[in-house]
Amino acid sequence: MKFNNLLIEEKESFIILTINRPEKLNALNKETVKELLEAFQTIQTRKEIKAVIITGTGEKAFVAGADIKEIAQLDGESGRDFSQGGSGVFRFIEKMSIPVIAAVNGFALGGGCELAMACHIRIASANAKFGQPEINLGIIPGYGGTQRFPRLIGRTNAFYYLLSGEMIDAQKALELGLIVELVEPNQLMTRAQEIAKALSDKSQIILKYILQSVDQGLNTDLDEALNIESRLFGEACKTEDMKEGTTAFIEKRKPVFKGS
Ligand code: COA
Repeated sequence: MKFNNLLIEEKESFIILTINRPEKLNALNKETVKELLEAFQTIQTRKEIKAVIITGTGEKAFVAGADIKEIAQLDGESGRDFSQGGSGVFRFIEKMSIPVIAAVNGFALGGGCELAMACHIRIASANAKFGQPEINLGIIPGYGGTQRFPRLIGRTNAFYYLLSGEMIDAQKALELGLIVELVEPNQLMTRAQEIAKALSDKSQIILKYILQSVDQGLNTDLDEALNIESRLFGEACKTEDMKEGTTAFIEKRKPVFKGS
């Protein structure tokens, strides 16, 4: 995989995808968004890849937003298309059947915050700063910010940060539940890789069912969500990995999962 704005590093069982426009603080121009989709579509077909880490080049920014120079050119119609296009790519990432981990290493603003929120796991370095500052540009978030922010940090906090455009430092992000862990900047990638490696050792089919159950369940009412969980629980009970996991527990040994 070769891209103009992304660096792809293949590890044994996972991929590190780095957004690489450091001179623009890794802002997402149209080409980068298109490349993100291509990268994730390819990764989805590669069964040996069991997790993805997304980060940004340099110590200053994860992603400082969608490219404001491009936004400045939009009108009503192209604006809607712009939003739908980026939203579609982030939804594709959110619906991946393997875990996607955001390793947030600096500014995660606008589209950067929205990209991180579309990932399944977020960790951040102590210098990370999140936010949806679109209000200050005379626009609203267009890549899912008004929807995922309240789902992740609740309406009370989401309204405040969406309406004020105020930035959220890493400690506050941890308190709000926007990230799961806060680490020193020089430990960020080590910790992200530890998580990716640990998840690579789990049953891949069961990981997929958990991702599906949470995603589908959160987007419907509780009765339907519990039906989705029960159906996927049934699917899990059909797997070799269920036999292996339960037998290994009874035999007091470590399970060896095959992903089937
Ligand atoms: N789109 C396009 N270019 C961006 C960008 C964005 N979202 N964010 C930063 N850049 C560019 C700057 O224009 C500058 O380019 P230049 O050197 O050609 O002028 C370069 O990245 C460095 O940014 P700069 O503003 O000089 O860095 P800073 O340390 O002073 O400030 C930020 C950092 C993140 C606070 C500031 O860049 C910023 O507010 N960015 C926009 C954040 C935003 O509103 N995002 C939501 C977009 S929808």
